[in-house]
Amino acid sequence: MDLELKHPVALVPTMGALHAGHASLIKIAKKHSEEVVVSIFVNPLQFENPNDFSSYPKSVNADSELATTSGATKIWTPTFEEIYPNDPEIIASGEIGNLFEGVHRFGHFDGMLTVVKRLFDLVQPKFAVFGEKDFQQLFLIKRMVAQMQLPIELISAPTIRDSSGLAMSSRNQKLSITERENAGGIYKALNLANSASDLTTARSQLTKGILAIPNFLLDYAEIIDGESFALAEDSTVNCRAIVAGWINGIRLIDNMAMSNLGNSK
Ligand code: PAF
Repeated sequence: MDLELKHPVALVPTMGALHAGHASLIKIAKKHSEEVVVSIFVNPLQFENPNDFSSYPKSVNADSELATTSGATKIWTPTFEEIYPNDPEIIASGEIGNLFEGVHRFGHFDGMLTVVKRLFDLVQPKFAVFGEKDFQQLFLIKRMVAQMQLPIELISAPTIRDSSGLAMSSRNQKLSITERENAGGIYKALNLANSASDLTTARSQLTKGILAIPNFLLDYAEIIDGESFALAEDSTVNCRAIVAGWINGIRLIDNMAMSNLGNSK
C-alpha cells in the first residue's frame, strides 16, 4: 500500500474517539517530525468482548479536526482488509500479556501487538508515540520493538487528566458527570500511595484510597516493578502503582510512578 508519506514519519496509532490525551501525543510527535500520521483503526483482534468492539465510540469528523489542529499531516483510516489482507501472524504477548489487564481481557495484548506491528510495517515510521496511561501496553510494545530490533524510536507520553484527575480515555464519555468526579478518586488514591516512603504503606494507602471511591468495582490495585511487571519488593528501583476497575460497566485504568520508593522514575 502506498501511503505517499514524506519520511521520516512520526506515527500516532489510535482507535479514534480522539480527546485531549491524543492531541498531546500528536503534538509530541510533531516535535520529532514534520510528517505526522495519525492512524484510526478499531482493531477487532484486541477486543475480547464483541459488544465492546461494536459499541466503541466513533467520531471520524471530529477526530480529523482535532488531529489536524494538533499537527497531524495525514489522518489514515485503513480498512480491515488493508491492515489484514491475509490471516495475520499473531504476535504473542507472552506471560506478561496474561497478567493484570490480560487476566480479564484474554488475547487483548496479542491482538494489540499484532496490529501495532502491522501499522509499523505499513507506515515504516521513524518515531511512534504511545501514552503512558496504558502502561502494560507501552511495556509490551517496547519489548516487541527491542526483541524484533525494529528501527523505530518509541516515545512515551505522560497521561493527560481532566479537572477531577481522571486519566483521559475515549471510554470516559460514557460516564455521567458524577461518575467522572468519582473516578477522579483513582488519581487521588495513586497520589496517596505516592506520598508513602515505604512499600507496605504505599500498598495500604493505595487500597484505602481505592476503597473510598463510590461505586468502583476494583479489578486490581498493585505496586509492581515497572521494569519487569513483577510485584514490587523493598529493593525494587522503579516502583509503579497500577489500578483497574469499573464504574457502571466502564473500564478505567491508571498508573503512577512511585517517586518516593526506591529511585523510581
Ligand atoms: O491504545 C490504543 O488506542 C490501541 O491499543 C492501539 C495502540 C492504537 C492499537 O490498536
